[in-house]
Amino acid sequence: MAVDLRSFLNVLLEENELLAIKDAIKPQYEVTAVLSKVLAEQGGPAVLFENVIGFPGQKIVGNLLASRRKLALALGCDTAGLRDAYLDKRFKTLEPEMVSGNVPCQEVVYTENLDLPALLPAPIFHAGDAGPYLTAGVLMARDPVSGVLNTGIHRLQLKGKNRLGVFLASPPLSDYFKRAEQDGKALPVAVALGLHPAELVAAAVTIKKDLKSKVDLAGAMAGRPVPLAPATSVDLSIPALAEIILEGEILPGVREEEGPFGESTGYYFQAQSPVIEVRAVTCRREPILSVIMPWGMETEVILSAFSGAELWQELNRLIPEVLEVAFLPGALTFQGVIKVAPKLSNREIRRLIHLALNLDRRLKHVVVVDEDIDIHNPREVLWALATRFQGTKDLVCLPGLEGYSIDPSVKNGETAKIGFDATTSPDGPGSPRYRRLMFTEEAALRAEEILQRRKQ
Ligand SMILES: Cc1cc2nc3c(=O)[nH]c(=O)nc-3n(C[C@H](O)[C@H](O)[C@H](O)COP(=O)(O)O)c2cc1C
Repeated sequence: MAVDLRSFLNVLLEENELLAIKDAIKPQYEVTAVLSKVLAEQGGPAVLFENVIGFPGQKIVGNLLASRRKLALALGCDTAGLRDAYLDKRFKTLEPEMVSGNVPCQEVVYTENLDLPALLPAPIFHAGDAGPYLTAGVLMARDPVSGVLNTGIHRLQLKGKNRLGVFLASPPLSDYFKRAEQDGKALPVAVALGLHPAELVAAAVTIKKDLKSKVDLAGAMAGRPVPLAPATSVDLSIPALAEIILEGEILPGVREEEGPFGESTGYYFQAQSPVIEVRAVTCRREPILSVIMPWGMETEVILSAFSGAELWQELNRLIPEVLEVAFLPGALTFQGVIKVAPKLSNREIRRLIHLALNLDRRLKHVVVVDEDIDIHNPREVLWALATRFQGTKDLVCLPGLEGYSIDPSVKNGETAKIGFDATTSPDGPGSPRYRRLMFTEEAALRAEEILQRRKQ
């Protein structure tokens, strides 16, 4: 298994999942236009930009986890095994290890006269964005009360030579900052860019009582404790194998306009956000800056891979007939699908819908389907909705719940959540009314044989 971003890029190259671009390219608008086009037309290989105008020697990589296959390659499992690989590691966390000697991410250290826009090829993503952004930065800080080190992915706007706007809406880091600020103190932070994919995706997991630190989870998922080293200018440990580290602190009592920025919803979003004052930048020689396209497959893969696993586990513990959970592509984990075994009554399905919509903060619409539906195929899910759902009796609507801040349809913090019972209950999927079209076994085999021969 890969140990860091560079060795993961070698894995992707061997697996024909890496597209290297040698053409000269501007970080302003062009990098992201290429990433978006590659995603749409080629199904999402990672893209390495080797010739970034204005930044000789530096590279940018994007679309790194823009498919479940690449995430599986990073975690050393196959796509179908992602859920169980994650749930297995979830409870076998590995504490990080402090390393001594050479620290790769501190090969080059900048502390004087910092100039972030000149140091980093941070892209401007979309027309209408307020400026250059870092989207794959893993923000790290210690809980001011317990001292636990934790992480989160948070968008960062380059706002000047040593200032970053940080959108801080998710725990645990939003809570850590609140605690520091209540005491009138700054929160020491680091931003790690260019990490092993396990360290990146672990940062997007929701912290729960049984999970102390996402750094320990990242170690388990990468198959080795996360190697940490002391930061150079703040009292914090940083991932030694990162490509780039920004060190600094979030200033107490400061809020500034941050954005507009084209968000993961597909719309622009701006906020009054806290500010990080950067004290030092350290990096490898010829560093690789990783970026995540906010709207598209990569954000969805990262958000859904493990929240789907957790939701399945929680629901399955309460209702064993829950077989599988997935999220509909293009809907940011706002729209989920749950596959259930037969025998659940409509009343039990209503209970399931209530549980799912309350357990998952982002989930806004949930469709429950029978076990004959392939829930990874949106066409099948839409077919179930079209033919097995009646709005007068199969709809559950829960108004007035807490909404997700970046959803533009949420007003005054409130959202309505909706569940669709698109099962065939009480008839059952095998009943005469719901008999699926099929071919004779012989014809199906014969078709397979003919088409196989054409491929050879
Ligand atoms: C690509 C990506 C970008 C994200 N950007 C932000 C962000 O800018 N601000 C934020 O508060 N959370 C952001 N998040 C969410 C957090 O990193 C992470 O999911 C959170 O710490 C987990 O808590 P939650 O699931 O309870 O929100 C992002 C997640 C992903 C996958």
